[in-house]
Amino acid sequence: ADYNIPTAQYKTVFNRSETLHYLNSHPAPIVIKADGLMAGKGVTVAMDDKQAYDAIDAIYPDATTQAPCVIEEYLEGEEFSLMCLVHEDQIIPLPIARDHKRAFDQDEGPNTGGMGAFCPHPLIPQSLVDEAMTKIVKPIINALKLENIRYTGVLYAGLMATKNGVKTIEFNVRFGDPETEVILPRLITPLDEIIFKLLKHEPVELEIDQRACLGVVLASNGYPGKTETHGPIQHLDQVDSMIYHMGTSKQGDAFINQGGRVLCITALADTIEEAKVRVYQDLKKIDAKQCFYRSDIGSTG
Ligand code: GLY
Repeated sequence: ADYNIPTAQYKTVFNRSETLHYLNSHPAPIVIKADGLMAGKGVTVAMDDKQAYDAIDAIYPDATTQAPCVIEEYLEGEEFSLMCLVHEDQIIPLPIARDHKRAFDQDEGPNTGGMGAFCPHPLIPQSLVDEAMTKIVKPIINALKLENIRYTGVLYAGLMATKNGVKTIEFNVRFGDPETEVILPRLITPLDEIIFKLLKHEPVELEIDQRACLGVVLASNGYPGKTETHGPIQHLDQVDSMIYHMGTSKQGDAFINQGGRVLCITALADTIEEAKVRVYQDLKKIDAKQCFYRSDIGSTG
């Protein structure tokens, strides 16, 4: 807000009565963000008042609890993630991706760190990416400089293409997950070469595979809450797609579920639809009784 970077209207509140007062004039749908590191699970996108009050009960169990919390306008539109590799003034945008944050099909269930992703995003034209670069990414890098922060690293912008333009949902200073799992396979230029050139202030041209990439996360039952662990994950050797291990351990030759997001199964193909077919065929081969996955990764709108 200080640097006029487009984002949702918001208010920071500190206790239960202040929150309830604000909600009276700003009913659901509304977004409630708890303060602190929450592993991507601190945000409630409340579609009705009950969900909003449940989120508030969790943050403010009684009238005396004091804790900062952000209540934010619900942004409607098409979501996308734009990650940039940044070294001071040099900004290299990676291809955009879209993740699916809700735990269950049709965007039901709690918000998670991401149950799957695809890249590119067919509903986001280059003009919107350009708008995001001009109005959001470059201004935030400039703002960091004005705040005396020399930033080198990944800038993750979680964005929403709304009818009033592209708006910021969140920034992270790390790679996005599972977006990165579907972006890196399309990157023909080696990542280390890009990073070393960037650090030497040399120009970088990215060569991108024109195929699409889609990834589905296999999560442990209970995710994003307390999850089951220590069950076996079998038949990974029969999977043709790429397998990212996110929450596994190995006992001898056997893979064991360590909870949370366990695997991301990812395929490249000429179209997103084709990549989706390959990934779901492979998921059927995996025997992981403690785990679940969404069956609609890759759907948009
Ligand atoms: N997938 C969302 C994130 O990495 O924050």
